Amino acid sequence: MLRKALLAAAASERIRQAVTATPATRAIVARYVAGETSEDAVATARALRSAGLLVTLDYLGEDTADGQRAAATAAQYVHLLGKLAAEGLTEGGAVEVSVKPTALGLLLGGEGGPGPNAVGERIATGHLERIAAAARDAGTTVTVDAEDHRTTAAGLRIATALRARFPGVGSVLQASLRRTEADLRAVAAPGVRVRLCKGAYAEPAAEAVESRHDVDRGYARCLGLLMKGPGYPMVATHDPRLIAITRSLSLARPAGSFEYQMLYGVRPDEQRRLAAEGAQVRVYVPYGGDWYPYLLRRLAERPSNLALFLRSLGSSS
Ligand code: FDA
Repeated sequence: MLRKALLAAAASERIRQAVTATPATRAIVARYVAGETSEDAVATARALRSAGLLVTLDYLGEDTADGQRAAATAAQYVHLLGKLAAEGLTEGGAVEVSVKPTALGLLLGGEGGPGPNAVGERIATGHLERIAAAARDAGTTVTVDAEDHRTTAAGLRIATALRARFPGVGSVLQASLRRTEADLRAVAAPGVRVRLCKGAYAEPAAEAVESRHDVDRGYARCLGLLMKGPGYPMVATHDPRLIAITRSLSLARPAGSFEYQMLYGVRPDEQRRLAAEGAQVRVYVPYGGDWYPYLLRRLAERPSNLALFLRSLGSSS
């Protein structure tokens, strides 16, 4: 219930204004978000690299209803990739980028109400192509984030089409969605980068399993398929049980043929511990001014953060 209410609040303009106008929430934002500028993003990537961690950078923003904004987001990624390359951070894919299709215009141009459509898909594909070319030129990769279920098919289609020219383009699958096991089989091909996560969006029961237990079981099942398959698994979770399962499944794989992924600000000690053991660990680092929906998804995952957040809202009013 609480999780659903929080995820609904992510879409409320009134709550958004109250939260973003409150300086006291900044400390909580700072835990999960690297800063507002590309300089902040590069500095954080540099620091994580010197701690032996890999990085994927996400320029915050989603559900854009403005074509110019979608183009500006693509330009921001191209600019960022240039800066990272100039510092040698993209070498060997050590620092890459993660991109949300709805930030690049997937929802633009729909006349039949909200949701993806052919016009938006063409716009988002064009922008992603520019980003993928910039990533290739920088010696690194792009991963296409997964958003709510209305965008799943389009996101997978776009990534699959781009892989013909940019084989490093990665896809993300959400264990909570009922369709994911089939998607996993469809995407499995040698070397294809696939991130498996639990799924952060409120979804209808027809599309997704609801209980945590069922999500975890689905994750474990998909993890088995992914780790036994020919692709490059990117195991995105902070869940100790799933990390332990990954470790045992990894014994049957060549060294360096998969990676763990965790979010900036979540279990940083575990990130460093796994890296010190010799595992490849990539940290997902968001930056930019449009942090509100991202933050609410993080709060929905961790109700104890919510108490802190509400206290800081109260103390500043
Ligand atoms: P779970 O939520 O059960 O958490 C396990 C433990 O991790 C908790 O007990 C706690 O200790 C810690 N933890 C988890 N979340 C925390 C938080 N916010 N604050 C503090 N501690 C926390 N989703 C999506 O829909 N599309 C996507 O593209 C992505 N991309 C993505 C990339 C990466 C690298 C990661 C790690 C995650 C995503 N996600 C995502 C988010 C994902 O779907 C999921 O919502 C979160 O990772 C939380 O799920 P866990 O697997 O960590 O398990």
